[in-house]
Amino acid sequence: MRKNIVAGNWKMNKTLQEGIALATELNEALTSDKPNCEVIICTPFIHLASVTPIVDKGIIAVGAENCADKASGAYTGEVSASMVASTGAQYVILGHSERRAYYGETPEILKEKVLLALANGLTPIFCIGEVLEEREAGKQNEVVYNQLEGSLFGLSAEDFSKIVLAYEPVWAIGTGKTATAEQAQEIHAYIRSVIAKQFGKEVADNTSILYGGSCKPSNAKELFANPDVDGGLIGGAALSVADFKGIIDAFKA
Ligand code: PGA
Repeated sequence: MRKNIVAGNWKMNKTLQEGIALATELNEALTSDKPNCEVIICTPFIHLASVTPIVDKGIIAVGAENCADKASGAYTGEVSASMVASTGAQYVILGHSERRAYYGETPEILKEKVLLALANGLTPIFCIGEVLEEREAGKQNEVVYNQLEGSLFGLSAEDFSKIVLAYEPVWAIGTGKTATAEQAQEIHAYIRSVIAKQFGKEVADNTSILYGGSCKPSNAKELFANPDVDGGLIGGAALSVADFKGIIDAFKA
């Protein structure tokens, strides 16, 4: 059966020293009070090699926030999937709306990134979601369908089953505005239905679909209680151990 996951996305925050302190504090909090779900922290590239050895692997997994769409070579400033994997990281966020909007990442580019991540043993946390105008025009299903089709529907069912999805309505990211539990459930169920159509019911039932966008300790329980919401991708609240742990604890009775 699919896993419940709470993943943090640190974005472009924390110096190396601050990142090590945050990971150390989180590790202490979660080793003394074990989570009921899988916990992942996705950090800036430069933190990865320092953070992976300080977290208890049985409790916290580490991921990157991006990787290159090329395997290696003359691509100044890029970081490849194999480099990410060599740090001990196991996950990589791909297709975050900030990457799509500010760095021109298209479905075709993301398809390459997904293939390279998988080839290097990384689990992609693949983000999809609509902007406000698309939601207001009632086009959210069409938007997420196209994002899935453009980057993931060419995969084999075996490869697709290695992916974690994150539905993140762009209008809810960092805005304090959260999708309601009903809005989240409705589109998560839609996403699962199109996966079932493409890859079969078993694959769909086993795919973890996370919700992201202003998730906090105060709303996590209600969001995660939905049958098709399997956890969260957490931005701002992942920068505080108290808040992040509060969200993780939403999976406790
Ligand atoms: P937020 O970000 O929790 O700060 O809204 C979520 C994300 O962008 O993954």
